[in-house]
Amino acid sequence: MTVKEIFESMEYGPAPESAADAYAWLVDQGDRFGQFINGAFTAPGEGFEAKNPATGEVLALLSQASAEDVDAAVAAARKAQPKWERLGGPGRARYLYALARLVQKNARLFAVLETLDNGKPIRESRDIDIPLVHRHFYHHAGLAQLLEVERPDRRAQGVCGQVIPWNFPLLMLAWKVAPALAAGNTVVLKPAEWTSLTALLFADICRQAGLPKGVVNIVTGDGEVGERVVAHEGVDKVAFTGSTEVGRRIRQQTAGQGKALTLELGGKSAYIVFEDADIDSAIEGLVDAIWLNGGQVCCAGSRLLLQEGIADDFQARLRERMGKLRIGNPLDKCIDIGAMADPAQVERVRRLVEGSVAGECFSAAVEIPETGAFYPPTLIIGLAPSDALMQQEIFGPVLVATTFRTPAEAIALANNTRYGLAASVWSESLNLALDVAPKLAAGVVWVNGTNMFDAAAPFGGVRESGFGREGGWAGLDAYLKPAGAQKALRPIAGFTGGTNGVVEGMDRTPKLYIGDKQARPDGGYSRVVYGKSGKALGQVPVANRKDIRNAVEAARGAATWGRTNGHGRAQILYYMAENLSARADDFAGVLNAMNGGRKGADEVEASVDRLFTWAAWADKFAGEAAAVPIRGMALALREPVGVIGAFCPDEAPLLGLVSVLGAAMAMGNRAVLVASEPFPLAAMELVQVLETSDVPAGVANLLVGPVAELAPHLAGHADVEAVWSFASADLSEVIERESAANLKRTWVNNGRALDWFGAGGCRAFLEAATEVKTVWVPYGE
Ligand code: NAI
Repeated sequence: MTVKEIFESMEYGPAPESAADAYAWLVDQGDRFGQFINGAFTAPGEGFEAKNPATGEVLALLSQASAEDVDAAVAAARKAQPKWERLGGPGRARYLYALARLVQKNARLFAVLETLDNGKPIRESRDIDIPLVHRHFYHHAGLAQLLEVERPDRRAQGVCGQVIPWNFPLLMLAWKVAPALAAGNTVVLKPAEWTSLTALLFADICRQAGLPKGVVNIVTGDGEVGERVVAHEGVDKVAFTGSTEVGRRIRQQTAGQGKALTLELGGKSAYIVFEDADIDSAIEGLVDAIWLNGGQVCCAGSRLLLQEGIADDFQARLRERMGKLRIGNPLDKCIDIGAMADPAQVERVRRLVEGSVAGECFSAAVEIPETGAFYPPTLIIGLAPSDALMQQEIFGPVLVATTFRTPAEAIALANNTRYGLAASVWSESLNLALDVAPKLAAGVVWVNGTNMFDAAAPFGGVRESGFGREGGWAGLDAYLKPAGAQKALRPIAGFTGGTNGVVEGMDRTPKLYIGDKQARPDGGYSRVVYGKSGKALGQVPVANRKDIRNAVEAARGAATWGRTNGHGRAQILYYMAENLSARADDFAGVLNAMNGGRKGADEVEASVDRLFTWAAWADKFAGEAAAVPIRGMALALREPVGVIGAFCPDEAPLLGLVSVLGAAMAMGNRAVLVASEPFPLAAMELVQVLETSDVPAGVANLLVGPVAELAPHLAGHADVEAVWSFASADLSEVIERESAANLKRTWVNNGRALDWFGAGGCRAFLEAATEVKTVWVPYGE
């Protein structure tokens, strides 16, 4: 094309970025890579090719890490960890700062290498991925600096096994490595097999920064290597980003191993446009939402929901805009959409789209290179909410669209998915947008924006999009654990009776507490509880799986509790405290009789105090504003998790139960509690406190029964959002395994005792009882 022609047509000419430096770096490394273990590269072994998906060109040869390699990497990380942690936050901050500087200094090299390896447009790797990477390291240098002041009671988890995907290779590395290192952990990271090169360049940067050996280890290979890393017994914490299927498998595989786990999984995020939206901005936003990185984005706005009145006009304008997208050589600075990460991903997308007969499919008539992993921007309209393409994550440049009439319908459609990662809301009425935002089941909501990310703003999902947050303090907390050793907890057995089970003076029929009713156990069974001397103290019902289901149903019906304000919730908790206090002597008597101790009065007093503590917190844990360097503000709001099922502790049968229930209620959750199996009588007494304290029906449900039998049912129930276990019978494995079904949040004791008189009122409860929802709102200039 001549200059004259360019002026006449106003077409962009090609503007390719030079890849010379990236190739030179690959040549310097010998075009072959081993593993990065203990500060050095091992000799290259058997492996696979790193290819440029835009051309099919082989860029380098990578090695498949063996079991011995993973062992060596974990051993190096283990050896390096204590010293790294002892260096202290400010000491570690210097290294994170050095890493940030070095990534920034090598930004162009990283950007080009990323584009070569992944196929994303250079405009994105240069202007989005890499700047966010160094921003992440800078921000976490700051978090490390402040850590000891802000989190004095926490310490590092230890060795972190981290597995990342191929869509934002270096950015996902930064999201994993920066908080882990800031918190004093060491790392074994496995990049995705399609995109390992920038991780290996990062390894080189770690050497240049003088990072102590073994602090960062990088092993390459496929899912088998990933599996070895997460299953390794030397790993204390696992962090994974990738598909929901693999995330679920990791949850099952690590069940009962005592590992902390965060999962950032798939999504099918709604992009909601109301009639009063600025349509041009919403269309440009949509280009970002679904065609950024060719739609290979976990939080891509892949489900377009349009208000009916604007649907035709919007779709017409959108089709026109799609026709103007430029797709081609990712190194060309004028390109909007590059190659997909691998031909296999193109095939996956093609199969999904061609496998669906529903709706009307529109493919943009844009020029596409004949070779390479390219797929055209595609719009599919006229789908029903249950159609496969409306439900399945496509992970490609394919947008599905439908319409709605009212805000309520938009919310229902948006929430009609097993995922819950993100959502965008477009409306010029902030009243409307901010009314809709809290009603969306999503970890991130963008108001009049999309795909905004920052190191200070927590990111992560609800439902089957996984759990845990990355970014900000919430992200850092996932790499910390309580300081101080926890004592091992041996199973505590109840007393058996010498008498024939006759309970003196008892004529009450024992009941469960479900909804606002005392309910007979479904199975119709009860059992006798004996004191230390063998005396029969009372009877308790024996709950079964049907009772669990009834209690969960009652809890689901009490959703308005989550919308009751903190002040209102506090009033109920104070009332409970008051009513418990009024019956302190009765409760103390029951406790002493049950466990044969003399500390009943202390436990009741501590329980009253605990309720006061949770009442105090009820209106003081609402979240914080994250200062993001993008126009607007990110509000990291604390939302209730939903329905929390919990197995209560045996070593403090009243205080433990009250600690769990109070924390759950204070944060707006509904609870299904299974009382201590050996010492259940205090829980039965508490029913009367609940009944007289105006606790709304279904907010607190109390069951008594065989915990080992009930655990799989509560943990596997699809309508429960979180399960906690503090029972002395270790239920950790079964709960973590069964929770994988709908990827519910879990908090288990792994056979360790919590100090209920002290730590039973700690911040960890507030964190476990809430989920961070990050709402990005326009604010300021
Ligand atoms: P994937 O989940 O298999 O791969 C992600 C990472 O996990 C890679 O490093 C892989 O080697 C590793 N991995 C695979 N199996 C593993 C196992 N059993 N244990 C430990 N690590 C394992 O994703 P894949 O197959 O590349 O893509 C499939 C689909 O997953 C995509 O089409 C997309 O829908 C979704 N996906 C979602 C991502 C997200 O960010 N939410 C990222 C990548 C894929």
